[in-house]
Amino acid sequence: MPLTSIELTPRIGSEIKLGKADLLTGQYAPNIRALLVERGAIVLRGAHLSDQELRDVARTLGDLRLGAVKRGADGATLHEGEEGVLKVSLDEKVNPDYARFLFGNHLWHMDGTYEETPPFASLFMPYRLSREGGDTMFASNYAAYDDLPDDEKHRLENLTVVHTMEAALFPAKRNCSLEEFAVWQSYPNRSHPLVWHHKSGRKSLVLSTSAAYVEGMHAAESHDLLQRLMVHATQDKYTYRHKWQPGDLAIWDNTGVMHRAMPFEENSVREFHRCTLNGEEAITGADQPVAEPV
Ligand SMILES: [Fe+2]
Repeated sequence: MPLTSIELTPRIGSEIKLGKADLLTGQYAPNIRALLVERGAIVLRGAHLSDQELRDVARTLGDLRLGAVKRGADGATLHEGEEGVLKVSLDEKVNPDYARFLFGNHLWHMDGTYEETPPFASLFMPYRLSREGGDTMFASNYAAYDDLPDDEKHRLENLTVVHTMEAALFPAKRNCSLEEFAVWQSYPNRSHPLVWHHKSGRKSLVLSTSAAYVEGMHAAESHDLLQRLMVHATQDKYTYRHKWQPGDLAIWDNTGVMHRAMPFEENSVREFHRCTLNGEEAITGADQPVAEPV
């Protein structure tokens, strides 16, 4: 049986129609992976997966990232990343290790830009929804690249961008303390080509709020370029906005898609559970430096 899907927008996002039992067998995994790379984001309504089922589905699609196993004082409390399920919450009681970084989720970003090989994909499901707001948005860095004029594509090929934690977080918390800023700065930076030449043959922009500056470019020019590309890449025509319902499952291709959480009420109980699939290819630019067009 072919996988049934409908396009949610012309350039990004498809909804698949699949029963939970069929999803769990893994028989559709190759189709789902192919659709994921083609469409950037996939949603399935009414999946109602448990944590274990989320892990099981993730394992049909790739190499599940296992977080550090930690136990609370009672010996049984599950913390972030245990057995591959990350609890995404701004409540430090829910996620003691990572909640203090997750406010950055409100800005457009790719996950793992500090790694040589960022995660391939994430699976995301609501555990507790916010009272209001809290949609998740996805933006296609493939489509944004494809639509650039040829001379600009050519110019971007030679550029390398430095990604930093403080670039990712400071715009989301400009009233941070000096101590907080110092913690962000203590994380290693990572340089990546601005244009990713995927093994699939596709290309995408490696764009994220973590993009601090273009190596070797004047600071003002670098700032303007990265800002302009971010505005370009997040136009409505490249984005899909998902309004969550209980039981939903969303999967996105983190290598070619940015995501963000839209605002929700303060002190919200909002909690999502996420499985991450390890990356399968490092970010690779053009094989050779690309000559300027004559
Ligand atoms: Fe994220």
